Amino acid sequence: MESYISRLSEAVNNRHSHRDYLPEEIKTSEIKQLEDFIHDIKVPFEHDVEISLYKVPEGRKVVYFKGPKDFAAFISGLSIISQAKLGFVGELFILFCQSIQLKTCWMGHYNKEDTIQIVYQFEEKQKSRKVHCITPIGYTPEKTSFLDRMSTNRFSKKNKTIEDFLHPNSLKEFPSYISHALELATKAPSAMNTQNWYFLVTLSNDTYTIELSKPKGYQHLKWHFYDIDVGTAASHIWIGLKEQGLKTKIDISDTTGDVIWRFIFKK
Ligand SMILES: Cc1cc2nc3c(=O)[nH]c(=O)nc-3n(C[C@H](O)[C@H](O)[C@H](O)COP(=O)(O)O)c2cc1C
Repeated sequence: MESYISRLSEAVNNRHSHRDYLPEEIKTSEIKQLEDFIHDIKVPFEHDVEISLYKVPEGRKVVYFKGPKDFAAFISGLSIISQAKLGFVGELFILFCQSIQLKTCWMGHYNKEDTIQIVYQFEEKQKSRKVHCITPIGYTPEKTSFLDRMSTNRFSKKNKTIEDFLHPNSLKEFPSYISHALELATKAPSAMNTQNWYFLVTLSNDTYTIELSKPKGYQHLKWHFYDIDVGTAASHIWIGLKEQGLKTKIDISDTTGDVIWRFIFKK
């Protein structure tokens, strides 16, 4: 995983969601790179997230816009912890796609009927697991479509600062390695770009903790899996800390009904 970190960090700054694709299959060499990455994904916690790649057969549609021929499904167990980890692991994959110039868009609202038929063509659908999200994977036209321009204007603005996310009880000043990790997390994707999460930085006995979660009990009106979104921000923090060689312990809890991520490391 180490060898991927700097390019995933770079991808954070270049990635944004795309909703208009060329009707082409991605190259076999790129499929191989994606498969290798999925195989190499190693995160500092156990999880039950599965990422699998599919072709969209002729006459089927998995997204509401002009989609490509390839997509990935993000599947996990149903608990909020599983969802949070799906956000984390799925976002690593999304960033890797960007690093090899393949375009993507996290999709929680996808065409369920066609997608489920494609994903579970050969196996029985398990009740204890769910395709929480998918992403189209492909190439985009040179000229940005109206839908992409509109979505970028409405939902892609990344103009929040770290301060905008700081919990009232958080330290306001911290070393640059923490700012760097938090800066990456200000650019994480979320449903309709709501980015409703906080950073709570504390220092005790030479040990820093960065706590990340959504506001207690927060529910998005149109999207009921917001712990996935917080998971994407968690992956950005992890990438940022790892990039700077910090040895980090990650604690993930759900005792309050919201998933809380804690990144713990020595000063
Ligand atoms: C968990 C999750 C679910 C999403 N679901 C959808 C979706 O159903 N449809 C869609 O068009 N975009 C979806 N998005 C993409 C967001 O709208 C997009 O990431 C956000 O507006 C920020 O824009 P950016 O990705 O260009 O930075 C989703 C994003 C996340 C993280």
